[in-house]
Amino acid sequence: MGLATAFPVAPAEPVEPDGHRLLRAELARELHDEVAQTLTTMVVQMENFKAIQYGRESVIRQLDSYQESTRDVLGNIRRLLFDLRGEPAEAMEFVPRLRRRLREYESRYAISATLRVSANWPRQLAAQAAIHLSSIVEEALSNARRHGGASRVNVSLSVAVGQIAVLTVKDNGRGMELLWGESAGLGIIGMRERVLLLGGELQVLPTTPRGTVLKAAFPKERLI
Ligand SMILES: Nc1ncnc2c1ncn2[C@@H]1O[C@H](COP(=O)(O)OP(=O)(O)OP(=O)(O)O)[C@@H](O)[C@H]1O
Ligand SMILES: [Mg+2]
Repeated sequence: MGLATAFPVAPAEPVEPDGHRLLRAELARELHDEVAQTLTTMVVQMENFKAIQYGRESVIRQLDSYQESTRDVLGNIRRLLFDLRGEPAEAMEFVPRLRRRLREYESRYAISATLRVSANWPRQLAAQAAIHLSSIVEEALSNARRHGGASRVNVSLSVAVGQIAVLTVKDNGRGMELLWGESAGLGIIGMRERVLLLGGELQVLPTTPRGTVLKAAFPKERLI
């Protein structure tokens, strides 16, 4: 199969009317001020409550898990906010931001996370491409931690022969128990949709000696 058939170019995304942009900005503001702020306050209140539970280990553990779930929801909302705002700054700073994100993931979950970027990876990405890539990495990191129980994640960004851009996220977790295509949750479906919007293909496969590797490949021209 030639590259032209492997990567049919998806139609260009239509220009958005001003009214829609304003509505997205309004939604982003509401979501930030009303929902994200409240959740942040809840995490802080739980922290304060934990401080007065001396010696009550099971209560503290329970609170830890409530905090973690709340932080996960917050992380999802932040991503949604980012999508709604479509911030171009994210696109220009894609690699440095991803590095910072991986450092944060490492320190929060004690999972070692590395990033390799090939020299021919574009320095500046189109805003839409950066949004799709960030969301895909975020979901892969979440799956590696939640389902894989991984202790190491390797992210790589490269441009292969034929100007094919490739994002891989490899973990050393327990691997997928489901057969590919079998009742995947919303995460993999969402990642696949984003890769399709970039005119490419997504693969999620077992890797050796153990773990899962996600590979998203699409034409480099869709990144810039
Ligand atoms: N890195 C991984 N390691 C092990 N199993 C995985 C990994 N990624 C996905 N899976 C398995 O594939 C299933 C589908 O993943 P998917 O991200 O689509 O859904 P989910 O994580 O269960 O739910 P959601 O992403 O909608 O919160 C998971 O429930 C899990 O069983
Ligand atoms: Mg998931």
